[in-house]
Amino acid sequence: MTASPISPVKNPLPKASLAETAQVLRDVQGPMVAKGPIIRRPKVVAASERFDLDGRGVRRAQVLSDKYGRGPLMLNIPGRKMALILDPDDVHRVLDDSPEPFATAETLKRHALKHFEPKVALISHGEERTQRRRLNEHTLDHGHPIHQMAATFMPAVQQEAEALLEEARTAGGVLEYKPFLDAWFRIVRRVVLGDSAREDTDLTQLTEKLRGDGNWAFLKPVDKTGRAALLAQMQAALDRAEPGSLAAFMTQQPQGSAAEPAQQIPQWLFAFDPAGMATFRALALLSAHPATLDAVKRQIREEQQETAPLLPLLRSTVLESLRLWPTTPMILRETTTEVEFAHGVMPAGTSVLVFAPFFHRDDRQLDFAHRFAPELWERPRTREDWPLVPFSAGPGLCPGRHLVLLLTSKFMAEILSRADLELESHTLDPDNLPSLLNNFGLRFTVS
Ligand code: HEM
Repeated sequence: MTASPISPVKNPLPKASLAETAQVLRDVQGPMVAKGPIIRRPKVVAASERFDLDGRGVRRAQVLSDKYGRGPLMLNIPGRKMALILDPDDVHRVLDDSPEPFATAETLKRHALKHFEPKVALISHGEERTQRRRLNEHTLDHGHPIHQMAATFMPAVQQEAEALLEEARTAGGVLEYKPFLDAWFRIVRRVVLGDSAREDTDLTQLTEKLRGDGNWAFLKPVDKTGRAALLAQMQAALDRAEPGSLAAFMTQQPQGSAAEPAQQIPQWLFAFDPAGMATFRALALLSAHPATLDAVKRQIREEQQETAPLLPLLRSTVLESLRLWPTTPMILRETTTEVEFAHGVMPAGTSVLVFAPFFHRDDRQLDFAHRFAPELWERPRTREDWPLVPFSAGPGLCPGRHLVLLLTSKFMAEILSRADLELESHTLDPDNLPSLLNNFGLRFTVS
């Protein structure tokens, strides 16, 4: 009789105490959930800025990383498996190894997004995810800084910037967030659905209502009537295929039987909202950094003959806005199998949290943590670099990132080449930028 091989004992990962877990829930997840993960609640955002709640979250993660080292750290939540990533290499690993064994379709995310897009790529898995992700990549021209359709998008950006500045002038030379966002969403509807959707604010309100439901995840029943109405409008835009729109471009892309094109579009409408926040904050950054603003203006002049300019410094400014104040602070994955780390084994079915602000603002490691550093984005960042992941990374990398940067940089260029903006609502200390900048409270004088 031969002896059966002894299987090596697998160590479990370090586990936080109940008290530490409660502190993580309070300081890390608490403010993120209270602010609204799917659509922001302006009053809570204002309170978070005032009481430095986002800074507290980063400091809490620092304390745990000082104590537990590389982690990942299992939280002690009865009935739920959840891990906090503490090591920069593990950020790369988790994002690179998505969706297997780190699925993008994480449970909480599925509950939040099912309110308006239950078949979107991000919360799909297997072959369905493959087809849906591919359709997004093709339509959003994932690999190219300048989208193939850029020339047809640019006039909308220019016209809406002009109209916005005219509105600001008649409002006494003041620019606030609400009119800025209204103008931005006119651009978004024109680009995504076509010029005929320019005034369709009812559609934006419907998406906002359903996103508000999404903030409550499984705590609120799905508004099936509202969701069906939204998806019917997405299908109508695809049927209309208005020339020059992303919807029309989507109909020309190869797609499998599980691709669900109409269910991918609400994600774009949703995700252009944080792009508006990031742009308004980027304008605030430039207002507080006059030398960069001068360089930006030079670049705008140099590229003014281009139909669709690249505007690298403005793109870097938006990326910095997103590094300093990430609009997707919690990147969530879920393990599909047991996964071995250097310090132990993570069980299958664990929700894995990459808390981006911790890696973006860790002042123990980064001398640029709290200052504006557009030079970080001069070359593409790789796996060897410290993880700065405003658009995620790996196979779940945001396929809309280039389109976002194309449209936001052009919108800023159209504004800055026509007007001087001065930040009136906040005084930003360039050496110590705040942990959160409340986009809803920003106000500029326009001359
Ligand atoms: C500032 C604006 C934006 C930011 C910061 C951003 C960031 C992100 C991040 C972090 C993810 C990964 C989320 C996760 O893994 O849970 C993601 C996914 C995604 N984003 Fe964006 N995004 C932005 C705007 C957009 C826009 C405007 C579009 C479309 C036009 C878009 C399309 C998508 C899609 C389709 C996914 C899912 C990808 C997948 O399933 O693998 N995003 N985005």
